[in-house]
Amino acid sequence: LSKNRQIFIKDVPQAEVAENHFEHRTGVIPDPGPGQVLVKTILLSVDPANRAYMNFDTFNPKMGAGQVLGAFGIAEVLSGDGLDPGTLVFCQPGWQEYAAIDTATAIPVKVRSKLSHHLGVLGLTGMTAYFGMLDIGEPREGETVLVSAAAGATGNVAGQLARIHGARVVGITSSDEKNRYLQDELGFAATVNRKSPTFFDDVKAACPDGVDVFFDNTGGPALDAALQVFNQKSRLVVCGAISTYNTDRPGAALNIQLTQLALLRLKVQGFVVLDDIARWPEAEEKMAGWINAGALKPVEEIIDGLENAPRALIGLLAGENLGKRMVRVAPDPS
Ligand SMILES: NC(=O)c1ccc[n+]([C@@H]2O[C@H](COP(=O)([O-])OP(=O)(O)OC[C@H]3O[C@@H](n4cnc5c(N)ncnc54)[C@H](OP(=O)(O)O)[C@@H]3O)[C@@H](O)[C@H]2O)c1
Repeated sequence: LSKNRQIFIKDVPQAEVAENHFEHRTGVIPDPGPGQVLVKTILLSVDPANRAYMNFDTFNPKMGAGQVLGAFGIAEVLSGDGLDPGTLVFCQPGWQEYAAIDTATAIPVKVRSKLSHHLGVLGLTGMTAYFGMLDIGEPREGETVLVSAAAGATGNVAGQLARIHGARVVGITSSDEKNRYLQDELGFAATVNRKSPTFFDDVKAACPDGVDVFFDNTGGPALDAALQVFNQKSRLVVCGAISTYNTDRPGAALNIQLTQLALLRLKVQGFVVLDDIARWPEAEEKMAGWINAGALKPVEEIIDGLENAPRALIGLLAGENLGKRMVRVAPDPS
């Protein structure tokens, strides 16, 4: 076996993350301990959460200098306890070629599509969109559904799922080009550019009948705008707050008075997709059906090379990506 290329956190970023916050090293391939497997990383998921891991405790304890940055991915089991060599698993190998991980945290992938789909539309972000939009948002025929970071991995799927359920979907992104794509290729009814100087008015104009569901990935100005257009009995799906992950400011707040919340009968609910992991197979089945029927379009981009992981994350936080961004560390097994 070759050596293990790894990317460590060198300094925890105080505000915007940059390449010099990371250190590339070559280490040894670890031996799996009892109850562990040695895995070889194939694809790494590039997530806003990679940045949040260095800010605060998430579903992982806060990470700091001297640690390999945590990251989800798809990997191949090479040896160890409880899983056969060759098994493909969804797990958290982190930014490295080889990792020893607890077998209990490795979820075997039943490959039913392109492997990369299992990290995107049929993986973490697709599942996030599925449970967030359908269990909490509950979009109905004719309702207006607003989605922030709508051209991103989670947002584009959340929007497509709402459209499949008969809603009129409005997306917020940072570029006219992404917005054109959402309208021309993914069936969004309208879009708004969050960088527009008239952003709040643009959201109102794009939602003439108000908003029944807001699937919020960003917090910040998009959430403040949505609060002006919520209809009675609307639902706010709190998926994430990316507007504050790459800054030195504290987390985004929900700027609404309790009386207003009551009068709106607004349902506000956060969630973590990992809580529903037992239901992922059922969700995958439905999502695969919509993909096969041509109703749900997978949107993904793959950047080659572990060494490009920091750049891929920095670019994601700058809004470069269209759909699910991943880093390829090794070829798909044949
Ligand atoms: N609750 C859960 O279980 C769960 C699971 C997975 C992900 N999430 C959350 O889902 C959200 C989306 O994650 P993702 O993996 O799908 O990433 P993504 O949407 O593919 O990528 C992030 C996007 O966020 C937008 N963005 C970046 N900086 C921003 C800022 N300062 N203000 C507003 N928007 C900004 C950019 O799009 P534009 O520039 O075009 O706006 C960028 O493309 C994140 O908040 C993440 O934490 C939650």
